[in-house]
Amino acid sequence: MTQDELKTLVGQAALQFVPAGGIVGVGTGSTVDKFIDALAASGLQIKGAVSSSVRSTERMKALGIQVLEAGEVESLPVYIDGADEIDHGGHMVKGGGAALTREKIVADLAERFVCIADESKLVPVLGQFPLPVEVIPMAAAQIARRFAAMGATATLRAGVITDNSCQILDVRGLQIKDPKAFEAEVNQWPGVVTVGVFARNRASVCLLGTSTGVKTLSF
Ligand code: A5P
Repeated sequence: MTQDELKTLVGQAALQFVPAGGIVGVGTGSTVDKFIDALAASGLQIKGAVSSSVRSTERMKALGIQVLEAGEVESLPVYIDGADEIDHGGHMVKGGGAALTREKIVADLAERFVCIADESKLVPVLGQFPLPVEVIPMAAAQIARRFAAMGATATLRAGVITDNSCQILDVRGLQIKDPKAFEAEVNQWPGVVTVGVFARNRASVCLLGTSTGVKTLSF
């Protein structure tokens, strides 16, 4: 099966977590696009979706899915999103599509995070994929120096301005063995808007697309 077919498979499988008549949190990315398409085609009746990006909002609206503002809901039963990496504890690296801040905000509203990913995303230790960090532009160089002091290399993602008018640093050379401590530490650096480690908001379930079908991992 191609990677695209695996994404379609898990996008479809995620429908089982959509609350009938309820509101669902929706992430961002090529795997989530498959979920949005499956949701629109399923005929499942939902009250609406809270979106994590302009990209997902536009796709849902075009397919007739009602999109609600995050501020209109107090909590969500479920948030469905992809990941750039996920470890065996459900901790993730996210932000390859630059939507990490809104993704973390919507994920934080949700009781459960359902991660949908193809099997290439499952890793023993986070850090192989360059870690996205959203930063206030005036602090970018200062934050890059902090990563250099950790032995890593942070580079500005050229030509990218986020939905929040900020910039993205991609950090290479990390081995994130304690995702919770790492997230807490980097979050405190002045100018960091969001670090792309999702440990506090880790996945509760991962639907992993494999050549033999969808594997469900629970954390
Ligand atoms: C978006 O900012 C990311 O967090 C995505 O969720 C992540 O990059 C996964 O994207 P794909 O489904 O396109 O691999």
